[in-house]
Amino acid sequence: MKYSRILGTGSYLPKKVVTNEELSKTVETTDEWIVSRTGIRARHVANEEETSSYMGYHAGLRALEAAGLNANDIDMIIVATTTPDKGLPNTACLLQDRLGITGIPAFDITVACAGFVYALSVADQYIRTGMIKTILVVGVDALTAVTNWEDRSTCVLFGDGAGAVVLQAAENPGILSTHLHADGRQKDSLYIPSWLPGQCKKDEVPYISMDGRAVFRFAVKALEEVVEEALAANQMSQSAIDWLIPHQANLRIITALAEKLKLSLDKVVVTVDRHANTSAASVPMALDEAVRDGRIQRGHTLLLDAIGGGFVWGAALIVY
Ligand code: UT7
Repeated sequence: MKYSRILGTGSYLPKKVVTNEELSKTVETTDEWIVSRTGIRARHVANEEETSSYMGYHAGLRALEAAGLNANDIDMIIVATTTPDKGLPNTACLLQDRLGITGIPAFDITVACAGFVYALSVADQYIRTGMIKTILVVGVDALTAVTNWEDRSTCVLFGDGAGAVVLQAAENPGILSTHLHADGRQKDSLYIPSWLPGQCKKDEVPYISMDGRAVFRFAVKALEEVVEEALAANQMSQSAIDWLIPHQANLRIITALAEKLKLSLDKVVVTVDRHANTSAASVPMALDEAVRDGRIQRGHTLLLDAIGGGFVWGAALIVY
């Protein structure tokens, strides 16, 4: 039996930081409102150079370095992003070009904030079947580029960044299981109208649009169910989890899940206060932070979860 093991992690954050205080000068909001409703205090905002392929490349390089590999050792690149640099080529091809390698398959998947968990699952299937040995999996988004900075109900929520892992085939776990779901009936709760010329309907703007309360309600229930599913599939109880690495959208959603799992918050990796919601990058960036600061150690059991517009959601149980 083959497993996929995380050999190395990496991340990239844009240089520019925008605090709640700064936002409150341009839209009618306060630091107090944002912190109490979301836990967010600041977010990083990409500049023109810091596109998804740029951020993904730098996160990928750090993951390769941590894995002790170089770009030529990769057999496949999967990029989870909803904010590609271009209509085409896909972001994974642009990242491959930046890495200076050719020939290996490179493709994007568009699964909003659940993108990294989905990409991890796809990569895991290739490795388990023996088709591919080493895969660079990147979660990256620059949602601030499709954020209406005059809409206080959304502009306070998002940030930009990239996270990456290098996965490699191994005899021991590794990824224990991944669990993916979607419900397209919820398509109007969180969406971005097309940004292709002419495709936005009259009165639509190419910005992210969200029914916050509907997303909140759905997220809490869906995440509780999917983590229970992941634990049951591995005959594990909550007490086996060393670290919960949740999607970083709202501290209240994270806290609700931790309470359900009877996990104290010091077993939960939280970055939402400094990163805000970075969509597909949120889980791999949190993972990388906790690996690099020494909280996550080899042999620890990790539970990852994410949910995004679709709705799409999923979880992964991993022995690091
Ligand atoms: O990645 C997955 C996607 N995202 C999520 O998971 C987000 C899920 N949803 C949420 O996190 C929360 O629903 C929000 C943080 C978006 C909103 O929190 P809420 O407690 O659900 O607030 P609300 O939407 O019910 O708004 C309450 C009030 C409204 O005023 P009225 O109608 O009660 O007078 C809003 O207009 O807060 C107002 N409001 C704001 N006030 C100050 C909305 N945004 C702001 C703001 N500053 N930035």
